[in-house]
Amino acid sequence: MDGSFQAWLDELRNRVSLEEVVSEYVPLKQKGRRYWGCCPFHNEKTPSFSVDTEAQMYYCFGCHKGGTVINFVMDMERMPFMDAVRLLAERAHMEVPVSGRGERRDGVSRDERDRMYDANRQAARYFHTLLWTDEGAEALNYLYGRGLNDKDIRRFGLGASPKGWDGLYRHLTEQGFEPELLEKVGLIVRRDGRAFDMFRGRAIFPIIDARGRVLGFGGRAMGDAQPKYLNTAETPIFNKRNGLYALNMAAKERSVGHLVLVEGYMDTVSLRKHGVQGVVATLGTALTQEQAKLMKRYAPEIWISYDGDPPGQKAALRALDILDAEGLPAKVIDYPAGMDPDDFVKANGLQGFENLTRYDSTTYRMLRARDGLNLDIQDDMTQYALKCCRILKNVKNPVELENHLRRLSNETGYDREILLRQIGVSAPAQAETPRRLRRPDAPQENSEDKAEQALIALLARGRIPTDMVALSDFADPTRAELARRLLAGEDYQGWLETLEDEQARTRALAALNYRPLPAEREEAARMAEDCLRTIRENRADSRAEEITQSIGAATHEQKIAMYQQIMALNEERID
Ligand code: UTP
Ligand code: MN
Repeated sequence: MDGSFQAWLDELRNRVSLEEVVSEYVPLKQKGRRYWGCCPFHNEKTPSFSVDTEAQMYYCFGCHKGGTVINFVMDMERMPFMDAVRLLAERAHMEVPVSGRGERRDGVSRDERDRMYDANRQAARYFHTLLWTDEGAEALNYLYGRGLNDKDIRRFGLGASPKGWDGLYRHLTEQGFEPELLEKVGLIVRRDGRAFDMFRGRAIFPIIDARGRVLGFGGRAMGDAQPKYLNTAETPIFNKRNGLYALNMAAKERSVGHLVLVEGYMDTVSLRKHGVQGVVATLGTALTQEQAKLMKRYAPEIWISYDGDPPGQKAALRALDILDAEGLPAKVIDYPAGMDPDDFVKANGLQGFENLTRYDSTTYRMLRARDGLNLDIQDDMTQYALKCCRILKNVKNPVELENHLRRLSNETGYDREILLRQIGVSAPAQAETPRRLRRPDAPQENSEDKAEQALIALLARGRIPTDMVALSDFADPTRAELARRLLAGEDYQGWLETLEDEQARTRALAALNYRPLPAEREEAARMAEDCLRTIRENRADSRAEEITQSIGAATHEQKIAMYQQIMALNEERID
C-alpha cells in the first residue's frame, strides 16, 4: 500500500464517525469515553461491545472482534476491504484515489470498466428485446418449451442472440461502442479483420452481480450445437471462478437465512419460478473457494442442491470440503436418482422441494460412503465402518460425534468403544460431561500477558512517557510490533485493519482495549512500573527455572557458575 493511499485512508477514517456508523446497526449508550451496546457479532444480553470514541475503534470484550470503522463495515456487511472503503468513501463524499488499491493489476481503468458494464447492459437489453421478434422466435419457443412464461422471462432478463454473424456487433457499434471494447468484454471475436458475435442462435441468461451490473452471459444451444452452454470468456469484469448466477436476487433475500446452491442456470430459474428463494448457481465450473467466500457474505448456511446423479454427488462432496474450509456450514439435498432440481420441482412443486431431506454434511458423507458397497456382505460392512470412522475423525463437536457414533454402531453392529478407538479418539473424550465451553479464540492470559497488554493500552492513550518502555519488554511479537508503532508514532490502525492473522489481530485488539486504566498520570506511571516489574521478574524467573532444570547434568564448576547466575537473576528482582 503506498503512502499517499495510507494518508487518504487516514482522512477517510477521520471524516466518518465510528459511533455514528455503528449506531445504525446497534443501539449505543455512552459511558465515559466509550459507547456500549450488545455485540452484533455474537449473541448476548448484557452489552460487552464498545466503541472507543477517542481511538475511533470498536472492540467486543466477549467475542474479541474489533478494529476501525473499515473493519466494522467489513464484518457487518461481510465485504472485502476495498468494498468497505468505497462504501464509506461515498458516505464521506470522498473520491477513492485511482492509483490506490481500487485499481487492479490488469491496468484497466475504472472508466473503461464502467463502459464494459454498460456494453453488457446494452447487449442484455438487445438480446431480451430480440425474443419477441422473428429472429428470436426459436429461442422464445425453446424457453416456453422449458416451462417458462413471459413473466419468468422478464424477471430473469432472458434473451435470444441473433442467428446471423454480427447482429449484436452492428447494434452496439451503432450505439457508439468501440469494437476494441466489445472484444475486451467478450461480446465479439475478431478474426482476419472481421468481427463476429460471440453468441449466435442461443437462449441467453445474463449473469448479474449483487450491485446489478451485468458481468457476462450464459448461452444455451437450442439444438444439439456444442457446447450446450457457452459462457462469456474471462474478461476484466468477468471471472467464472468468483461469480454466481442470480446473486443479484439472492443479495436481496438475506432474511431467508441460507443459499440454495445448484449446478445450472435452468435449475436456478426453475426453482425460483416455483417459489424457492436464495437460489444461486456456479458458472459452469466446480465450486471455488472464492465463490464460497462470496456466499458467506450473503448467508450463514448453504444448501447444496446438485443433480441426483453420480457426477452431481461427487461434486457435492467436493463442495462440502470447500465450504468446510471456509467455515461455512452446509446441508445437502439428495435428489431422487437421475433428477436435477429443475426436473424435481416441475414434478413436485415447492412443497415437494421443502419436504426433501436436507442431510447435515457428516450424514451426507456417510451416506456416500455406502456407494458401491453391499452392506449385506461382512467385508463391505467393515469397509463402510472404516470409511465412516475416517469421516468422523473430523467431527469436532462431541455431542454431534456421539449421535453419529450411535447411528453407526446400530447400522454396523460394532461397539461404540471399538468405533471410537478406530476414530482415534481415546475413550475419556466421551461426550457425557462436556467441559466448560470456551471460545476457541479466547486468548489465554497469564500475568505477563496482562502486563504487556496494560503497557500497550497506556502507551496508546499517551498516559505514560514513551521512554519508560523498551521494545524488549514485549515477548509477544504482535504486541512488540504494536509497541514499536506506538513508540515511533507510526500508524497502527491501518496496520491492524489489514492484519490477516486472526489471532494476532485479537491479541493486538485485546491489548489496545485493556482496562481499567487509571485516569491520573501519576497512577498510570505506577501501573506501568508494576507491569514492567512483572515482566522483568517473570523473565528472570523463567531463566532461573531453565538453569535449574539443567543443573543436574552439569559438572561441579558449571554448577557453581549456574548458582551464581541464579543469584544474580534473583537480585534483579529487587529494585
Ligand atoms: P447441465 O448439463 O447439467 O445443464 O450443466 P442443465 O443446467 O441441466 O441444462 P439443461 O437443463 O440441459 O438446459 C450444468 C451447468 O454446467 C454449465 C452450465 O453452467 C450449466 O448450467 N455447463 C454445462 C457449461 O458451462 N457448458 C456446457 O457445455 C454444459
Ligand atoms: Mn443439469
